[in-house]
Amino acid sequence: MPDFSQLLNEASTMASAVDLLFFTLVAMSSAVVIVIGGLIVYFAVKYRRTPENQIADQLAGSTRLEIAWTVIPLLVALGIFGWGARLYFDIVQPPAQANDVYVVAKQWMWELQHAEGKREINTLHVPLGEPIRLTMVSQDVIHSFYVPAFRIKQDILPERYTSTWFQATAPGTYRLFCAEYCGTLHSGMLGEVVVMEPDAYRSWLGVDAGQAPAVVGEHLFVQFGCSGCHKPDNSGPGPSLVGVFGSTVTFQDGTTALADENYVRESILNPSAQIVKGYEAIMPSFQGQLSEEQLLALLAYIKSLGSGGAGATPTGAPTPTIQP
Ligand code: CUA
Repeated sequence: MPDFSQLLNEASTMASAVDLLFFTLVAMSSAVVIVIGGLIVYFAVKYRRTPENQIADQLAGSTRLEIAWTVIPLLVALGIFGWGARLYFDIVQPPAQANDVYVVAKQWMWELQHAEGKREINTLHVPLGEPIRLTMVSQDVIHSFYVPAFRIKQDILPERYTSTWFQATAPGTYRLFCAEYCGTLHSGMLGEVVVMEPDAYRSWLGVDAGQAPAVVGEHLFVQFGCSGCHKPDNSGPGPSLVGVFGSTVTFQDGTTALADENYVRESILNPSAQIVKGYEAIMPSFQGQLSEEQLLALLAYIKSLGSGGAGATPTGAPTPTIQP
């Protein structure tokens, strides 16, 4: 039996599931085209005008037939919708434990940083068989992170975090494309993902690692004065941020929100938009004072303070290694 995953250049845990849905849709569409096309030809010949057959017979409709050709396609379409939705949820929900990579896209390059600190441009090294979670933001216009072999494509927006994840299943080098027109050199905004054996990856990662984003974020947290108000024991004028990430926060007006990446971002850049219940609107905005890299570092630090939900990596702890 041929190795289909190699034939189709499938290199992530998601790829075969995406392909199965895609080829099922192609097969069903082809079947419909063949049946309808065949019947058109067949009927055109069979009921053609002949000396004995000058005027067509008129047929009244058939209720049973009409119900059948309405209900059956409806069920088929809903089935495909359910299948596609299921797959979509798998694609957008990273596993609880994953290696974090931060992505800043800009005209016209990819800046990538590993949670351990290592930075890369246009090339992303990842370990084989471990989930990788990407938190992404654009410094200018809309870009899109697209790795065909992993069957993932996710837009990257300015002023807002998006994320995607993958788990590579075969070592090798895979093309990374920008899949959203982003200006003159859009077609040149290329990169590659290098999938390495976990041991080789770990030793590669250890060389010139630089500072982990969470550590940089901790310094920024002090440097920009955040630590003066957001004290871990809640004794400051601002709420403690320990355990906030991933939890549900309640605001003055009684509404609630999940403290996710975009909540943290807005709280830094536009703090008066949502005031946490029990606190004053005294925090200044840090709009224009922090680069995207610094914001991601602060985000990594706040994540590292513990999490109400799943998925945080505590400061200093080794990144969890997940075997499939
Ligand atoms: Cu970036 Cu197209």
